[in-house]
Amino acid sequence: MHSSPWKAMAIAVVFLQLLRFSMEVELEPSLGHSDKIVRLPGQPKVGFQQFSGYVTVDNRKHKALFYYFVEAETDPASKPLVLWLNGGPGCSSLGVGAFSENGPFRPNGEVLVRNYYSWNREANMLYLETPIGVGFSYSNSSSSYEAVGDEITARDNLVFLQRWYNKFPHYRHRDLFITGESYAGHYIPQLAKLMVEFNKKQNVFNLKGIALGNPVLEFATDFNSRAEYFWSHGLISDSTYRIFTSVCNYSRYVSEYYRDSVSSSCLRVMNQVSQETSKFVDKYDVTLDVCISSVLSQSKVLNPQPQQVSERIDVCVEDKIVNYLNRKDVQKALHARLVGVRRWDVCSNILDYQLLNLEIPTITIVGSLIKAGIPVLVYSGDQDSVIPLTGSRTLVAKLAKKLELETTVPYRVWFQGKQVGGWTQVYGNILSFATIRGASHEAPFSQPERSLMLFKSFLEGKPLPEIF
Ligand SMILES: *[C@@H]1O[C@H](CO)[C@@H](O)[C@H](O)[C@H]1NC(C)=O
Ligand SMILES: *[C@@H]1O[C@H](CO)[C@@H](O)[C@H](O)[C@H]1NC(C)=O
Repeated sequence: MHSSPWKAMAIAVVFLQLLRFSMEVELEPSLGHSDKIVRLPGQPKVGFQQFSGYVTVDNRKHKALFYYFVEAETDPASKPLVLWLNGGPGCSSLGVGAFSENGPFRPNGEVLVRNYYSWNREANMLYLETPIGVGFSYSNSSSSYEAVGDEITARDNLVFLQRWYNKFPHYRHRDLFITGESYAGHYIPQLAKLMVEFNKKQNVFNLKGIALGNPVLEFATDFNSRAEYFWSHGLISDSTYRIFTSVCNYSRYVSEYYRDSVSSSCLRVMNQVSQETSKFVDKYDVTLDVCISSVLSQSKVLNPQPQQVSERIDVCVEDKIVNYLNRKDVQKALHARLVGVRRWDVCSNILDYQLLNLEIPTITIVGSLIKAGIPVLVYSGDQDSVIPLTGSRTLVAKLAKKLELETTVPYRVWFQGKQVGGWTQVYGNILSFATIRGASHEAPFSQPERSLMLFKSFLEGKPLPEIF
């Protein structure tokens, strides 16, 4: 009578140990994983694992995409997998996303300092340098850098993830989210669409949601909200606002610019706008001092300027990230190679992207994803004038109307700590819009704590906190 509970317990313990053992075998093939990072130079001691390396994305094995994968700080097995993509097109998710926005470390001189609000507190973070020619990603044949566009990028990204799962099979069925910003407003919906299509044949991608920060979703709406943003923030005069909205608006200017046919009227308007806004204000954050984030400008492309205004207003001589990632010992620790380029750059100089792809609307793809049941969050750092919150908010509201989604959370503030983190509205419990108060185009860089709160709520599928 006495012994049986003990016996049952003993058996249970043995069973649990076996289970644990088999789980460990299953969950930690990373022991001896060739992509495992032993330690990054200057890195403080941490309890989580990091990996980086290459995945080839074509059958001739010419094209290799570089990734950096950071497991969650605690209990990675219970946390989702999140793919992060920066925009440009042509800028690095490693240098911008991981090392200045939401990764665990930021370079500072010879060392790496911890980012306390790293997104790997909530998820296993996968940073991908894409498309080919960005950062450490490369091809053996230089023709791969020509005429790269949205379509090739989405396909390569899909193949990347399929093959990445072969390296990390224990993540194959994990909840997957895709997040990113700026031109990733193209990359992410286009990749998600391919996943949804692929899943119809073979259910591979356990896609649970996408989040788009200051995204390019519909070129004209996004770009033309700039005029009012400049004007209402005092960056341009009344009369300049008038010509910027009548004689030549920004979408027309950009469209002419990328067709090499800038009209004299547009040039005149843009010169006036540039002169008043001044090159000493960062368009990606109209309140931030220029030195800090000019380095982080992930898109010369989204912000073309007439000749007089040089894009290289880099008043900071030292660029910590560029310096760090160009160290030979760092590249060795990352298993990274420089092929066809002399140095690692924040944004690619060899990639020849089809810039007119800017004009492809991706808000319609976002609509089809919602119809397929994929939750979508569009968020805006509210100090960004490049892709201002007003354009994104308009696009989300229009989409909700088109899909006949009712408002489930009315426009209201959300809290982080005891302060307002921004504003939010939710439609049909599936489409959300949120601003991050005081944040730049690279929101997690300028408002890390608020951004982490937003990220956490997004992963949990909950509206942002209504009270503090
Ligand atoms: C490219 O060339 C190098 C050197 O010949 C080779 O090691 C590599 O496997 C090739 N392919 C890729 C994707 O790097
Ligand atoms: C911008 O300019 C284009 C071309 O002139 C025009 O079709 C469009 O309606 C304008 N958009 C706005 C918001 O002014």
